[in-house]
Amino acid sequence: MTRENWTSSIGFILASAGSAIGLGNIWKFPYMAGENGGGTFVLVYVLCVAFIGLPVMCAEMLIGRHTRRNIINAMGKVERLSGSVGARFVLSTLSAGMAVAFATMEAWLPVALALAGVFLFAKKGFSVLGWVCTVVALAILSYYAVIGGWIVEYIRLALTGTLVPEAAGGVAAVEVAKTSQTAFAAYVASPWRVLWGFGVFMAVTGAMLLGGIRAGIERMSKILMPLLFVLLLVVIARSVTLPGAGEGIAFLLRPTLDAFTPKVVLMALGQVFFSLSLGMAITVTYGSYLHKEHNILRAAGWVGVLDTCAALLAGLAIFPAVFAVGLSPSAGPGLIFGALPAVFDTMWWGPFWAACFFFMLFIAAVTSSVALLECGATVFIERLRRGHKRGSRRTAVLIGFALCTLMGLLSVFSTADWGHLPWLGRAAEACMGDLYRGNWLDTLDNFASNWCLPFTALSTALLVGWAWTPRRAAPELLAAGEDWRALPALWGFLVRWVSPVGILLVFLYVSGFLGL
Ligand code: PHE
Repeated sequence: MTRENWTSSIGFILASAGSAIGLGNIWKFPYMAGENGGGTFVLVYVLCVAFIGLPVMCAEMLIGRHTRRNIINAMGKVERLSGSVGARFVLSTLSAGMAVAFATMEAWLPVALALAGVFLFAKKGFSVLGWVCTVVALAILSYYAVIGGWIVEYIRLALTGTLVPEAAGGVAAVEVAKTSQTAFAAYVASPWRVLWGFGVFMAVTGAMLLGGIRAGIERMSKILMPLLFVLLLVVIARSVTLPGAGEGIAFLLRPTLDAFTPKVVLMALGQVFFSLSLGMAITVTYGSYLHKEHNILRAAGWVGVLDTCAALLAGLAIFPAVFAVGLSPSAGPGLIFGALPAVFDTMWWGPFWAACFFFMLFIAAVTSSVALLECGATVFIERLRRGHKRGSRRTAVLIGFALCTLMGLLSVFSTADWGHLPWLGRAAEACMGDLYRGNWLDTLDNFASNWCLPFTALSTALLVGWAWTPRRAAPELLAAGEDWRALPALWGFLVRWVSPVGILLVFLYVSGFLGL
């Protein structure tokens, strides 16, 4: 398959930023910050972006551009060209370490997966890591689409003027927030209502890959994404002028030492990879379309800055309101669905702004989910072709689509409780031990974002930093003919030492092997 190239750096940066900016920034970042100590989380997050996220992002883009293969062949090829025979045993050992860590948490399903990893990594090397990335991407899509479905429902509510429940009309924002929170809890507790939003979101994602509406949505997203930033500013303007908003700003921006724990660092780290779309094949795939004339450092820098700005702006939009209306910052995944209706309710033309906001968030989420599904599909397409079956794009997309939909149903039917699937609930609790979080959506998110993504990112950093080595890889960071010295050298140091050691230390502290 010949790979097309991005025609311009700007095109590449916008496409990568489009896949990076999504629900992770606007839905997940605020509630993770709220649950993990506010300013402390934000500070750790920004440091992790700079010292761990960006170096890994450059590494992934490099792997993609150098090999121009799908993730599985790309990982295998880098391993081969680095001529390292020991690398796969390091990977295998890491996997064994993960198995031990999961065993201490009594998470038996992850233990089994990690043990299978020990064997497969030793036998087949880094191409197995490519499979892991692909599977993680599809797993993430399965619940990402459920949140996307919530957004679809909130667009509907805004359009029909029922975003703020009837009873709350004309009362103070504090009351509105309480009713919105209860309404949200009631909504996720009725899976049949969640199901239609999930269906719409998956259908749009699938249609974008198969139905030729992709170009249209991408053109639209070029206009709507900047507008999303503008609208965030509008919401911020309203949110910070609510009485009592100052406390929220302080919560978000003032770190405290008390709140600092290894768990906060693990959560921040997982969020960095989730938000920058790292460790799940996407950046490698995007990099494989990147032209030699493009400067990878610059592209990664831009994506990192845009993505982090989006997250911080979302935080600034949410927390002043959360404090002003007396919600708890640690309300969990429902945080923005409690706070935002209260903000919009106090705005002139509130339902209109609400509909616009949720619509743009929907578009941002769709550009991300398409990236997720496409990566899975690319792998299946190239695999099907190799097996001499006439693999078509349609079959591949449908396989990925069906897998995600089936997995997503588990999240849909368990978000409030497992009442609809009691057996599965008990099984999930028994299999996931301390990783279990009450429902499948949060449990899978916890496992995928906080454990799998740091693991795949760590392995990628080790592969590039130690097997391929920055000496061979770094010159490719620059565009042909450019000659900067300092930055590639700095990248080499970060990817070889800082990122892997940082991630390893976090794993060791969180699983209790090192004490703080
Ligand atoms: N980075 C996206 C976000 O922040 C989520 C995502 C994850 C998108 C993985 C693509 C791949 O919402």
